[in-house]
Amino acid sequence: MQTTDSSTIEVLPFADEQQDAVLREALAGLCKPAGAQKTLSPWLFYDEAGSALFEEITRLPEYYLTRTERAIFAEHATSLSSSLGSNVTVAELGAGSASKTGVLLREIAANQGGLLYQPIDISPSALDEAAVAMSDLSPGIRVEPQVANYITERYTIVRSAHDRVLALYIGSSIGNFSPNEAQDILRKLHSHLQPGDSLLLGMDLAPGPGKSVETLLAAYDDAAGVTAAFNKNVLVRLNRELDADFDVDAFAHRARWNAQASRIEMHLESQQSQTAHIAGRAITFAHGETIHTENSYKFTEAALHSLLQTTGFRVDRVLHDAARLFAVVLAAVI
Ligand code: AVJ
Repeated sequence: MQTTDSSTIEVLPFADEQQDAVLREALAGLCKPAGAQKTLSPWLFYDEAGSALFEEITRLPEYYLTRTERAIFAEHATSLSSSLGSNVTVAELGAGSASKTGVLLREIAANQGGLLYQPIDISPSALDEAAVAMSDLSPGIRVEPQVANYITERYTIVRSAHDRVLALYIGSSIGNFSPNEAQDILRKLHSHLQPGDSLLLGMDLAPGPGKSVETLLAAYDDAAGVTAAFNKNVLVRLNRELDADFDVDAFAHRARWNAQASRIEMHLESQQSQTAHIAGRAITFAHGETIHTENSYKFTEAALHSLLQTTGFRVDRVLHDAARLFAVVLAAVI
């Protein structure tokens, strides 16, 4: 796509880079020999429409994750804040936890007379929103945003002499990554931290006595069809951004529980044998063949402990709701 409109010149390099990444990801995931599992990475979900659909998902009756995590933070804000002590600066992987951690951050800011909040996110607009939400929360919260992909790029966490860092990685974001990738993310975070620092990690829990597989599946296949629209939006995005020609309605949303791997998988299932095109390449689908679009790992208590232990943390508290749907882990850096 070329343009000579001078008003767009400044945004073009970024847009081009972004478009290249989308193209590379789409070709790598979809141009595979017959019989090999086609894939698309979940980061592709989050264009403007996809981000809005995800926001809608967080308000669905079936999607218990967001409201449960918010309730856990609200219930334990006071005890967490007092166990953290003072001289705390908060660094967050991802941005915009304000609606969930708001009570806690306000309490920390009030206790110590101010708070430096350092969100690290790949999306400048998410960082802008986080900055606004945080200053609305409390005038004592100072925001130091950082644009970075915390998986592939370097980032920094600043602190003054007597500061202790509270790292936040919430929202079950870690669930999108394989066990090895999750370890890498936590090890890298650990390399920025010191003994005395701590981590609050939000993790969705595996099925158990109070949590059925049905509860899990419904959260990823809601009655209103919002998650289906979210999943299919990735094809809408490829059509628009790469000038591809997927027949979006010829794919069905599927959510599966993979017990072996302890994860929910989302797929797009081809409802007929068909061919789509991206950048002159033909991509053929057999009837019933799927594109695997997302993994969402669910943790047992044992898995949660072993992940933190192998990455240099000591689990101090595991907070959960009464039904044990979701957990917020407070871990110390060792
Ligand atoms: C943003 C990765 C936490 O896995 O639950 C919601 C994304 N996918 N519904 C999740 C998602 C389908 C979500 N995370």
